[in-house]
Amino acid sequence: MSRLTERPQWQALQAHAQAQQALTLRDRFAAEPGRGERLCAEGLGLFLDYSKQRVGEDTLALLRELAVACGLPARIEAMFNGEKINATEDRAVLHVALRAPMDASILVDGRNVVPDVHAVLDHMADFSRRVRDGRWTGHTGKRVRNVVSIGIGGSDLGPVMAYEALRHFSARDMVFRFVSNVDGTDFSEATRDLDPAETLFIVCSKTFGTIETLSNARAARAWCLAALGDETAVAKHFVAVSTDQARVRAFGIDPGNMFGFWDWVGGRYSMDSAIGLSTMIAIGPEAFGEMLAGFHAMDEHFRHTPLERNLPALMGLIGIWNSNFLGADTVAVLPYAQYLKRFPAYLQQLTMESNGKSVTLSGERVDYATGPVYWGEPGTNGQHSFYQLLHQGTRLVPCDFIGFIETDNPVGEQHDLLMANLFAQGEALAFGKGVAQLAAEDVAPALIPHRTFEGNRPSSTLLAQRLDPHTLGLLVALYEHSVFVQGVVWDIDSFDQWGVELGKSLAVQTGAELAAADAPVLKHDSSTNALIQRYRRLRPQRGAGPSP
Ligand code: F6P
Repeated sequence: MSRLTERPQWQALQAHAQAQQALTLRDRFAAEPGRGERLCAEGLGLFLDYSKQRVGEDTLALLRELAVACGLPARIEAMFNGEKINATEDRAVLHVALRAPMDASILVDGRNVVPDVHAVLDHMADFSRRVRDGRWTGHTGKRVRNVVSIGIGGSDLGPVMAYEALRHFSARDMVFRFVSNVDGTDFSEATRDLDPAETLFIVCSKTFGTIETLSNARAARAWCLAALGDETAVAKHFVAVSTDQARVRAFGIDPGNMFGFWDWVGGRYSMDSAIGLSTMIAIGPEAFGEMLAGFHAMDEHFRHTPLERNLPALMGLIGIWNSNFLGADTVAVLPYAQYLKRFPAYLQQLTMESNGKSVTLSGERVDYATGPVYWGEPGTNGQHSFYQLLHQGTRLVPCDFIGFIETDNPVGEQHDLLMANLFAQGEALAFGKGVAQLAAEDVAPALIPHRTFEGNRPSSTLLAQRLDPHTLGLLVALYEHSVFVQGVVWDIDSFDQWGVELGKSLAVQTGAELAAADAPVLKHDSSTNALIQRYRRLRPQRGAGPSP
């Protein structure tokens, strides 16, 4: 047994889960008048209703005891104080410094990093203003109308999610596109209708060594120069966001056109660093500042609010309950907001790259489940595709519903209809529809099993007044810190990502085998060898173009 599962607090939770197995949400609501008003938490304009989770106040007390036994309060301080809590990479984890006010002091190796953060923010703000008001022109003197951000993973998902989420606040006279996939289709489709003379590329890569990003950046440079004809055009059409100045220079981008960040910012925690340059150009430096203020407000809330009312702690601990004591393998994130259409994809990297680990900080194999699979789609679209499984499938899928009181796009009564659906889904999942009710409705007996909803399916509902930059900052930081809470309890390194390395190195080897002029000797397994041979045999000759 591991240290975690040996803890008395863990074992108390196991016994508690066992004892409560038969207690349904229907029972709980019947026995606890006012449960829906009590099992809620509110802070910073976010309202979290967790009454439809399969928890009681006793469950939450036990979860808090577990968190304290696992050292959560001290680990929070360690993060905020710049300790090297990313143990396997020997790095501090300081995304909280990215949104710290100017007068804060956060030390990494004895150096206050806050002035460095604000120097980059000032550089970004100056550049963004010049692009937005037309003072920054392209090589031919034309104004920049199109911004194409090139990056992948944390250097893409945050910017694209934030752009979509804050589209309402964006410069509508500009075009923003995002290129991530090494599939040339991504680059081609993103640029096919753009004028190179009006296009600015932001090459985003923490390491500036990611093959997908560098391939797309090279394609962008060739596309640009083919139209503009002159190598000096690069200076006006390319800027870089990276931690590695030498590689940026080697690529041919002037370090004067580089926006830096630091190794203590994890890729998936970087959307509020210079990686968010496209966001700042889209919404302007002031609105970007409001987003940072939202992040910071949640940081302060997380650091200083008692666990009973601490929103990230509550969300993280309820997630532990669902994963480890109710056996749920997944979480569905269901924003009832079209602007949040990329939020589930963003959360997938944040949660799964952070907590998809099987060994503890000291390298022992865990004997409990760690990070669940996150996925989702905006409501109401999901209702007409996968909600069937949520309601009647054999798996337990806890849901996070996210909704906003006001819409920026009032169309008739549609916002009420949207929110009615959100509320209805939580209710249907929790309480279902039983045999007696169906019989009372004269449903044919043979159909009753098919039309029964057993209910007792847990969900949380997060409400905010309006989706604006400040609220987006709150929301992202809320999930960031809930991931942290879970990583602390699971005793894993939430800030490394060694699991992506093997595929990368095999792809390099296989790439050489695909490029070899003569059939290479393949030393993979028989399946991989056969796939490579088939591909080599059937692909069109270079330059021949696709088959008709
Ligand atoms: O392969 C995973 C990963 O390292 C992510 O953690 C990161 O966000 C992404 O690749 C991109 O890395 P970079 O910003 O260095 O190009």
